[in-house]
Amino acid sequence: MSRKITVLLGSPRRNGNTETLAASFSDGASKAGYNISTLRIPGLKIGGCIDCRRCWMNNAHCFLNDDMKDIYAAIDDAEVITFVSPLYFYSWSAQIKSVWDRLLPYFSPKSKNDVRGRRAVLISAAADNDASCFDGLKKSFELACNFAGWKIAGEILIHGLHEAGAASKKQEYLETSFETGRNL
Ligand SMILES: Cc1cc2nc3c(=O)[nH]c(=O)nc-3n(C[C@H](O)[C@H](O)[C@H](O)COP(=O)(O)O)c2cc1C
Repeated sequence: MSRKITVLLGSPRRNGNTETLAASFSDGASKAGYNISTLRIPGLKIGGCIDCRRCWMNNAHCFLNDDMKDIYAAIDDAEVITFVSPLYFYSWSAQIKSVWDRLLPYFSPKSKNDVRGRRAVLISAAADNDASCFDGLKKSFELACNFAGWKIAGEILIHGLHEAGAASKKQEYLETSFETGRNL
């Protein structure tokens, strides 16, 4: 498998805090020799899973024909999958949650891709002043990775970030993100 990282940006806020942290992470990963493929989910048309159980029926991952096909293509050969989401009501942004649900074809009995053994990274930012605000998101990520058979390669969870430019003023957070990418 190629040394490829797929970075899924889940914030509707362009150049916001999570995108800033993800950019430093990607800089570090690219220094470590990875090819980065970045997709901005809010710019794509991705519907929610409709539980039709027709995964792989058209010889494609999912029966729904929308921009999720770009995400499948980016995940198929990625060594590391990075989920980037602002904390919204103690959980994922709605945009990236749809992506999680649409990963079901990989775990269907008819799946043609075995994605077990991949690595996954979580990047999030929150306005709250207490790190415990991430408890729900962290648990969701960890349980989902356990279900998928993915090893967690990093969690960058930064609280106390509200305004869009807040992360870019915090050099230590940018360094943490860079180092997480470089040490993959
Ligand atoms: C709809 C919505 C829900 C939010 N829910 C939370 C929350 O539950 N806890 C929290 O600490 N911050 C919450 N926030 C604040 C964002 O997580 C915070 O501003 C974050 O830095 C945004 O990242 P971004 O700039 O990448 O979009 C919420 C913001 C929005 C717009």
